[in-house]
Amino acid sequence: MRVVFMGPPGAGKGTQAALLAARLGIPHISTGDIFRANVAQGTELGKQAQQYMDAGEYVPDTVTNAMVRDRITHEDCRPGFLLDGYPRTVEQVAELDAMLRSAGQKLDVVVELTVDIDEVVTRLVKRAQDQGRSDDTEDVMRHRLEVYAEQTAPLIETYSERGLLVRVDGMGAIEDVTERLIAVVIVN
Ligand code: AP5
Ligand code: MG
Repeated sequence: MRVVFMGPPGAGKGTQAALLAARLGIPHISTGDIFRANVAQGTELGKQAQQYMDAGEYVPDTVTNAMVRDRITHEDCRPGFLLDGYPRTVEQVAELDAMLRSAGQKLDVVVELTVDIDEVVTRLVKRAQDQGRSDDTEDVMRHRLEVYAEQTAPLIETYSERGLLVRVDGMGAIEDVTERLIAVVIVN
């Protein structure tokens, strides 16, 4: 099964993707987590990504696409994968289409997690206190939300037109959201 998770910063993509991927027995691939791990390890990829992440901007498509291309051709992705935070731009959609086409594969479902803006801010402020993620400062948080609205939200329409989109309410308790996701994704 090949699943894409979309939704604004703080929607709960990472939280829910980890739970759902474990349930489906497929790898959870978070581009943000891969970038953060590379920044922490001081790799060349981390150096390329860090300035963009700290500013709340997207890492250039060429860098991000190459990273995903490499990751989804690993053996563990043979039964499928759950992409969390990719694709986020028109170019990334086109690149993912090309990757899947060349492998004779296709997406099964694109999930949009919807959450009120006030709730997103509450969650990210709390995470800033708990974890100190470097892009959870007020200014950067606001900019990440703007970048999402400008560059990523329009892609939801693209996947909707393809008949792949399901919208899932991301408000409420984590377990309740997971149950909603399982209900729609497994049926798909
Ligand atoms: P990324 O790491 O993907 O960040 P994001 O999209 O801003 O999303 P978050 O991880 O902040 O939120 P989430 O939806 O995963 O929510 P979470 O589960 O953590 O990207 C970071 C950066 O990397 C980007 O800005 C960019 O620079 C770069 N990047 C990544 N992908 C890229 C791409 N494709 N192209 C270019 N650049 C890219 O939940 C948030 C908080 O809420 C947590 O503390 C959680 O515990 C809590 N929470 C979750 N669910 C609930 C609930 N139901 N109730 C209460 N609290 C909850
Ligand atoms: Mg995340």
